[in-house]
Amino acid sequence: MKFFVDTADIGEIRACAELGLADGVTTNPSLVKKAGRPFKEVLAEICALIPGPVSAEVAALDAETMIAEGRVLAKLAPNIVVKVPLTWDGLKTCRMLAQENIRSNVTLCFSANQALLAAKAGAAYISPFVGRLDDVGAEGMALIGEIRAIYDNYGFATQLLAASLRSPEHVKQCALAGADVATVPPGILRELAKHPLTDKGLATFSADWAATGQSIL
Ligand code: E4P
Repeated sequence: MKFFVDTADIGEIRACAELGLADGVTTNPSLVKKAGRPFKEVLAEICALIPGPVSAEVAALDAETMIAEGRVLAKLAPNIVVKVPLTWDGLKTCRMLAQENIRSNVTLCFSANQALLAAKAGAAYISPFVGRLDDVGAEGMALIGEIRAIYDNYGFATQLLAASLRSPEHVKQCALAGADVATVPPGILRELAKHPLTDKGLATFSADWAATGQSIL
């Protein structure tokens, strides 16, 4: 499973890349707002740092303007993937951009039927939102399994990019369900490294080492 970093914070992306944890990056308008920097400037920086796919979301809601925005975004760097919403106009945009060899990440996916349409439209990535389904009392992770089964049934090339992941358990379940990619906020990536028994064991080893009075350097 690939890890994409779900943030527009260049410092956080750099920190994850140092550990080989940034196979790509996803951004959205809320993350751009949080970063508080000009969109195109921050995208150019991310694309220069990370060779993998970097998702940049269109702002318009109608296909004609989305297509124009997608073309502009795609010109910023060769690794840009244009993020479009899972609406009728978004699917049309995805289709048109695919015909121009511009990759799309179809976002805000909440059902298997939506994911099926995105694959038919030629999406490079589908982004089902696990956490937001959990938020409304649905079983977000079940959607990952459904899309995996449907895409495998028909050999769709669209990559399953699990999004809206809020916990280490989400990440583990995505890996078990066969997601191609998990896009993970940097804080959750750090949590993946933690275990109380690691901390406890390290405290014992450190104390015992100190008691030996020795030094490695
Ligand atoms: C990434 O592509 C999504 O925009 C992001 O994972 C959404 O996460 P959220 O539901 O926690 O905002």
